[in-house]
Amino acid sequence: MSIAATDDDVMPKPVNAREAMERLNAEASKFNIWLRTQANAPAQRAWFRDAGIEASGALAAGRVGANQMKTAPHRWRWREIGPYLDRIAQIARNCDVSPIEFADRQQFLLTNPGLGGRLQVTNTIRCAVSIYNPGDIAPVHLHTPNASRTILSKNGGYTMVEGERCEAGRGDIILTPHGTWHDHGNDDADAVVWIDVLDFPLMEFLDCVWIDEEFHGERAGNSRAQAAKHPDGYSGRLYGAGGMLPGFLSHQRGIGRHGTPMIHYRGTDIRDALAGLAGEDGDPYEAVTLDFVNPVNGAPVFPTLAYRAQLLRPGEETRLKRETASTMYVAIEGSGTTEIAGRRFDWDENDIFVVPNFLWRRHINTGTSDAVLYAVTDAPLMEKVGQYRAQGRTNDGTVADLVA
Ligand SMILES: [Fe+2]
Repeated sequence: MSIAATDDDVMPKPVNAREAMERLNAEASKFNIWLRTQANAPAQRAWFRDAGIEASGALAAGRVGANQMKTAPHRWRWREIGPYLDRIAQIARNCDVSPIEFADRQQFLLTNPGLGGRLQVTNTIRCAVSIYNPGDIAPVHLHTPNASRTILSKNGGYTMVEGERCEAGRGDIILTPHGTWHDHGNDDADAVVWIDVLDFPLMEFLDCVWIDEEFHGERAGNSRAQAAKHPDGYSGRLYGAGGMLPGFLSHQRGIGRHGTPMIHYRGTDIRDALAGLAGEDGDPYEAVTLDFVNPVNGAPVFPTLAYRAQLLRPGEETRLKRETASTMYVAIEGSGTTEIAGRRFDWDENDIFVVPNFLWRRHINTGTSDAVLYAVTDAPLMEKVGQYRAQGRTNDGTVADLVA
């Protein structure tokens, strides 16, 4: 008795299914669709499988991950990038119109070499360095990205945030939580320089970037800036005494949610606070640190980004640590080196560098005086989406879960 032929026997098999799919894809592409012909090929190995200090994630292979880009460890040397600010300022002084008039700002933005020319230093953080000549004004506006200024100049310039005037000084951190009206300017005799940090790339990815420039509040004489309602030092007087919170006013600033009302941290206060803790053991992976927090609830100052100051004492070496979050650093004082995935990145004052997620890193103060780093990390965002993890290596090489 013969066995009936099955469909498999009579139907011709495709010569190559993938090729057939690709041919179909070529035809379908005009409809802006892509027929899946590849499996997922994630870039990262499993978090808990350690492949050594120098191992880093690879780019994902194939179409599924084709548009993925990876943040690279990188350092921007101040001695290389700083002079461009002088050249921008020179153009502003000597040309028919100041760049601030047609470009909104006189600044350069840092681009991470791993991110294909995008205006970002990590997947979540944009960093610019701005110069304001005497008389320059950045008009009052409000936007969705959270932003901050880290002041590099000794003195000069100001930022107004929701009516609070913040006179800028070296090492200050001035915050503009999303949804707060703010403007910048320089009433002083010399040009001023500061670093702008924003969660712009994240908001861009979320398609949530918008700006409002129609300020309806009281304006200062020149009409492009808001009037000062609170003198310099206002938020410090309200919130500067740790553990004590004024009970007679609202802590809401602007129209944003979850932003901090503590707008202005002075560099001198930060430095004094670090000095006061210099005798403590500190953390083996981070040395002596101060986290900048929303005084109302103790949360990071922004829902997306956390800010921290770190003191490394002369000769101090931290242990290796890695996190699922990415961090940008500014060297505010001293000199040292940070090893990232086995590569050494030396830094001096005003140098900026980034430690991408997943990479082992440690800091070393190579100088004979204190070193101070300011760090901005997207760890709060990673925590909120349930993905924050951290590991440390003890000196004998044992890997320990710090946040599992
Ligand atoms: Fe702004």
